[in-house]
This record gives sequence, structure tokens and C-alpha cells, in this order.
Amino acid sequence: MRIIVIGAGVAGLAIGWRLAQKGASVTVLDRAQPARGASWAAAGMIAATAEAGEGATPEAELAHHARSLWPDFAREIESASGARIAYSQDGSLLVATNEADAARFTERARAANDLTWLSRDEARAMEPMIADTVHGALFAAKEAQVDNRALGTALARCFIRAGGTLIANEAVVRIEVERGRAFAVRTPFGYREADAFVLAAGAWSGEIGGLPREAMPPVKPMKGEMLALKPPAGAVLPTRMVWGHEVYLVPRGKRLLIGATLEDVGFNTAVTDAAEDWLSRRALALMPALRDWAIDEHWAGLRPGSPDGLPILGESAVSGLFIASGQYRNGILFAPAIAEILSRSVLEQSPGPKAFDPRRF
Ligand code: GLY
Repeated sequence: MRIIVIGAGVAGLAIGWRLAQKGASVTVLDRAQPARGASWAAAGMIAATAEAGEGATPEAELAHHARSLWPDFAREIESASGARIAYSQDGSLLVATNEADAARFTERARAANDLTWLSRDEARAMEPMIADTVHGALFAAKEAQVDNRALGTALARCFIRAGGTLIANEAVVRIEVERGRAFAVRTPFGYREADAFVLAAGAWSGEIGGLPREAMPPVKPMKGEMLALKPPAGAVLPTRMVWGHEVYLVPRGKRLLIGATLEDVGFNTAVTDAAEDWLSRRALALMPALRDWAIDEHWAGLRPGSPDGLPILGESAVSGLFIASGQYRNGILFAPAIAEILSRSVLEQSPGPKAFDPRRF
């Protein structure tokens, strides 16, 4: 079976890899460089509890399932690529910055046995830089993280080693459809036929020509800006992710990442002083000692948002065209689950979860 995947982000590469492992002949095309869009801009958090909660919603179920797949997925990537991706499951602290947070988190800890409510002193014993004004914290032991930039490179290598063809700097501008079936794509450089197509182009997934309106995924870019801070001499990085005051802090190698803003401003990746100020103020409220840390990098990325905030996964209204988009804030977390759902959907015609069906809009 010949399959074309549109988009070499973490989703497109993971799906392409799974399909190639199962014997398909897969080509992944990207408008730019592999894994340099949202996959690069992300913080690499595998944060089911912090992002989706523990409820019985389809999104929380996907998030928790994906998080449970991550340890094996990370091991498999490292072994197939020979590269390190720094997966670690050190947990997260969700800091209560007021009484209402404290009440909410205490309740959550009571309802879930992998969540623990910590007093302020207990939280500060775990992460001494946390402000002494906080009201305690929820410790989510199963939350994890991965170096998302290393992950993109490693997944590209896994895909190629499994026999896949990866083509950068070739944007799919049109999908050709006849009698309700997709049969080819056009790029500025050529025309490529295949038996099935996976549209995994992140925030750009709704920008491809040739599709009837009902098959076009209603995805829009949701901008996020982030900072990376470098510690002054002698300072020690936090050992786990810390959330509070609407931001998260993620230790990554020798730097601390601070994220993220959330804006609906189209395909705009300009970095702004306003975002730097917003992120810095909140990070300082959470950890006042960060005032002595220097900004090492400031960047922006575009999350793929959907109208209902849920991912868009499975076969579209055009047969032979499958969508893997709308991951919104959770592209890295969802990756192994999306690869599982899409490879089954393409190769076995197995429908994915109803809540994420591309035909629901
Ligand atoms: N998952 C974090 C973010 O999108 O900002």
C-alpha cells in the first residue's frame, strides 16, 4: 500500500513510522524542515493530569492512555534511532496560588490515588525555589516529559530506518479527489499518487486546496510564546515540572523553559515584549529566585486548534483521506496514541474514538 503523509511533525513522523513498520510504502512530505513547527516550539510535556484532568471525558481518556504508552514508545524510539530523547517521569507540581486552588487540588487528590496533596513546606522541600506564599501543591507523580526537539530528529531517523521516504521543503498545496476518493497530491514540484493520505500538517492542516468543504479539517493556529532561562553560576534547576499562575516551568537540560501564552492571531510567530513580560512576571511569582536568571531564547509556535478543542483523528468525508490534527496543547503527549489510532484506521479501517471523528463538524 502506498501512503503519503502530509506533515513531518511528531504526529506525521510517528504515524509514518508505524505504517512503514507494518509494511506500507510511506512518503512523508513537509512544507519546511521535519519537526520544526509546533513539535519544535513545544515544551515536551506529557502532562495528562495538568492539561486534561482525571475526568471521564474522551480527551482525558486519550491523554491518560497516551501517557501510559509513553515509557515503551520512548524506549522503542531510542532503540530504533540510536538517539537519546531524554524521556523522564519525574512528576509535576501543580501549585495552589490561592485558597480556591488549594480546595480544588485537595479534592482532586482525594479522588485519584496517583495524586498527592502537599502542604507548602512539603512542596518547597521538593522544589525549594517555589515562593513561600503558595498554599500547597498537587503532586502528579505520573506526569512526564521528553526533549521534544531531540524527539523530532529521532522519529525522523526511526521512520527512515523503517524504510520510509522523508521529503523536506515540499509543501502539498492540493489533494486531488475524484468520485469522493483522494488519489494524488500536488506540490510546487510535482504530482504524487498514492492509495491513502494522512493529513498531519499541524496548524496548516486546513490550508490545503482541492478538498470539498466537508473534508477540510477546521483547524486554526493558536499561537504560543515561550522563554528559556539560563541559571546564574551555582543555581540549581528544579527537578520536575511546576505549574502555577497560568504558566508552567520545565527543566530541560541546562535550561528552564517557561510557557506559554495562548493567542488566536493567525499565522503570526513574531515574538513580543508583552509576552516576555507576561511570562516573566508569572514565573517570578512562582519562583522569585528566577529574577537572577537570564533569558537564553524566546520563541513562538502555532498549536493546531479545533472548534471544540478536541483532536481530529480518523478518516475524513473523502475516502482514502485520513486526518491527524487538532492536537491543540497536547501534540507531544498524544503522539503515541495518535500513531496507534491512525495506523489502525488507515490499514485496518478501524474507526477511532467517535468524539474525535473528522466528520463530526
Ligand atoms: N501544552 C502546553 C502548551 O500548549 O502550552
